[in-house]
Amino acid sequence: MTLNVLIDRVTEAMAEGSAARGGPVPAGSPAELEARVRRVLGDVLPERGTGAEEAATALAWLLAYGGPDPADPRCAAHLHCPPLPEAVATDLAVSMLNPSLDSWDQAPSAVTMEKALVAALATLVGYGEHASGTVTTGGSESNLMGLLLARDRRPAASRRRLVFCSRAAHFSVRRAAALLGLGEDAVIPVPTDASHRMHAGALAAALSDAAAMGEIPVAVVATAGTTDTGAIDPLHEIAALCASHGAWLHVDAAHGGGALFSSRLAPLLDGLGRADSVAIDLHKFGWVPAAAGVFLVKEAGALRSLEMSAAYLNPGDDVAEGYDGLLGVSLRTTRRPDCAKILVVLRSLGRSGLGALVERCHTLANRAADLVEASPELELVVRPVLSTVVFRYRAPDGDLVNAGLRRRLLAEGRAVVGRTELDGRVCLKLTVLNPEADVAAVLAAVIDAGRVLAGTKETR
Ligand SMILES: Cc1ncc(COP(=O)(O)O)c(C=O)c1O
Repeated sequence: MTLNVLIDRVTEAMAEGSAARGGPVPAGSPAELEARVRRVLGDVLPERGTGAEEAATALAWLLAYGGPDPADPRCAAHLHCPPLPEAVATDLAVSMLNPSLDSWDQAPSAVTMEKALVAALATLVGYGEHASGTVTTGGSESNLMGLLLARDRRPAASRRRLVFCSRAAHFSVRRAAALLGLGEDAVIPVPTDASHRMHAGALAAALSDAAAMGEIPVAVVATAGTTDTGAIDPLHEIAALCASHGAWLHVDAAHGGGALFSSRLAPLLDGLGRADSVAIDLHKFGWVPAAAGVFLVKEAGALRSLEMSAAYLNPGDDVAEGYDGLLGVSLRTTRRPDCAKILVVLRSLGRSGLGALVERCHTLANRAADLVEASPELELVVRPVLSTVVFRYRAPDGDLVNAGLRRRLLAEGRAVVGRTELDGRVCLKLTVLNPEADVAAVLAAVIDAGRVLAGTKETR
């Protein structure tokens, strides 16, 4: 069977799977879903295979049935975007050729494609001609790379090496510090202000305390778009503090970097170009299927920590003749060109087209916040900065009710709503990355489930 025909069959099976799902997620408990998945999977390694068509359509049906579908208007929980068709199609082209960027002879054109992408995004963040970077699996890997480069500037000494980030920073910062041998306790959590942004005064005090103790400030990780609220740390003030304390500034803009596409929202990230390194994820605001992270450095020379020479990949005489891949800018060896699906979206929509999508999500999130404020049954906890709105269903047993109503919506297959904890309280959140999200329907479902959980409506 040719690939074309197989793709048609897979697409049909996916349409059947999503029709069987009926909502953003399949209704039922986790145990019921697991039983169904196991039934369809059957014997995972049969003695005799079932053939390409049966195998591919069965798996495609299961993926679509099992959802969730981030394109469903009632799916608004995570930084999980509905991918654009051109990105999916280009990803398929990549899979068909299976290039790998670690050596020139495995990906001659893709090597240039990634370099061109990195240069364009470096310009977007405000970097100059000495910038460089690489495509990563996402914010976690980019944060690890930022801290790796920062650590390698400050070799081990008898003094403690510290990393500073706000209490609202992503957990991957702590994990990266642990992996890099700095230790999780080397990460100093800096208090946040009332808007959940890093408190610049508290950072200044923490850096001064560290200096007084003779400790080494390896890096400050600022966040441009926190996971929970979308808050953007005060980048200019943090950059000035880093400069005076000799600390590397890494900005985790995995979430908020997409605002750069919008001329209305880009000023929120003013100061980003002062960072030594930046993480941006196009599988968040970017509508590219994961993995589509980008790690950028202001000075290409900083990547020397990653230099690697392997006789079978980049021997010196090949490199001297221009036969060089991208082994030396990544932590990985075999690496598919995820740059291609990003490039296609930049080309297809252009900056203004992408900006319009970001703005639409921002507008929808603000509309959700207005609806929350207008409802006597809901409490607005955080107004959107980017496209995240945090709120609660009002109930005496607030934490239990909010946690329970979210699970109820999942079990009924009605809506996918996010959950987090702010100031010790369980909160609900909508992360709007779908320009077609139906925020009114999601909030109506929340109120309905909240009434049941709070006991003001009979359970059917
Ligand atoms: C601010 C921030 N940084 C980093 C990450 C991790 O990104 P990834 O899941 O792509 O590794 C996330 C994930 O949501 C995030 O919100």
